[in-house]
Amino acid sequence: MSVIQKLKERGLLHSIEILFNRIVPAWLFRFSTGNVFELDPQKLAEVLNAMDNSDFILTCVEQGSQARDQLRTLTWNSVPMETSANDFGYSIADRGTPEDVLGGVWAGIESFQEADLGFQLQFADHQSWIYCAYVKQQAQGKGVYKRLLSFGSNDLIEKGYQRIYVVIQPWNKASTYIHQKYAKGKIGKITALRLFSLCAVFCSGAVGKDRTLTGNPLSNPVQLHIRD
Ligand SMILES: CC(C)(COP(=O)(O)OP(=O)(O)OC[C@H]1O[C@@H](n2cnc3c(N)ncnc32)[C@H](O)[C@@H]1OP(=O)(O)O)[C@@H](O)C(=O)NCCC(=O)NCCS
Repeated sequence: MSVIQKLKERGLLHSIEILFNRIVPAWLFRFSTGNVFELDPQKLAEVLNAMDNSDFILTCVEQGSQARDQLRTLTWNSVPMETSANDFGYSIADRGTPEDVLGGVWAGIESFQEADLGFQLQFADHQSWIYCAYVKQQAQGKGVYKRLLSFGSNDLIEKGYQRIYVVIQPWNKASTYIHQKYAKGKIGKITALRLFSLCAVFCSGAVGKDRTLTGNPLSNPVQLHIRD
């Protein structure tokens, strides 16, 4: 794919962010802002029921399995194991080539830490948090993520997580489009700025926080919660 095509598909700002984060180390500077959406399990259940998934293998990967480690790698999931051990990882593969996982997505429960940005979300028992969605480039744009998200949402509901949230950076066009399409609506916003070890975290809407600043992003992050 040409650079121009990549820029068009990802969006210019999203491409700049990816490049910037590759060049500038996290300990030096980070900025991120994202809209928080609450997904609509009803809409996603309709999507799941309307699709024929018989050509695909959709799985919630087992804890401690090799498949789980592979899914972490595929989805660029670098959330520390210590803070995400109970999270659910969902994967999708073509039934004809089950070893070739096409994509994955994660659902955090209990808490979710953005170590580089100095905040941690604390969830109630019925809340979950979608993160690290990824579909291999050659499989993108073919409805793979639609299958994955609807499967994951259904599984979360069955497990008792009735509220499913996700944060999306506004410049990520594809992610905004799909999550907004299957959301009840935008419920808030999180913005974080890091300079060396000083982090400032701002939030609005249904997202609350215990303070704004921290000088220890890893060991003493700003605590966020979602009011539903
Ligand atoms: C975002 C991502 C997971 C979507 O996966 P996908 O399998 O290509 O998505 P789907 O084919 O299921 O498409 C779902 C919908 O999004 C739309 N869509 C997909 N790519 C799009 C793009 N670049 N721009 C606008 N809409 C897009 C599709 O048209 C489809 O809409 P429809 O339901 O109205 O037909 C994938 O593009 C990806 O891995 N991106 C890189 C990582 C990333 O940004 N992850 C999200 C971080 S939160």
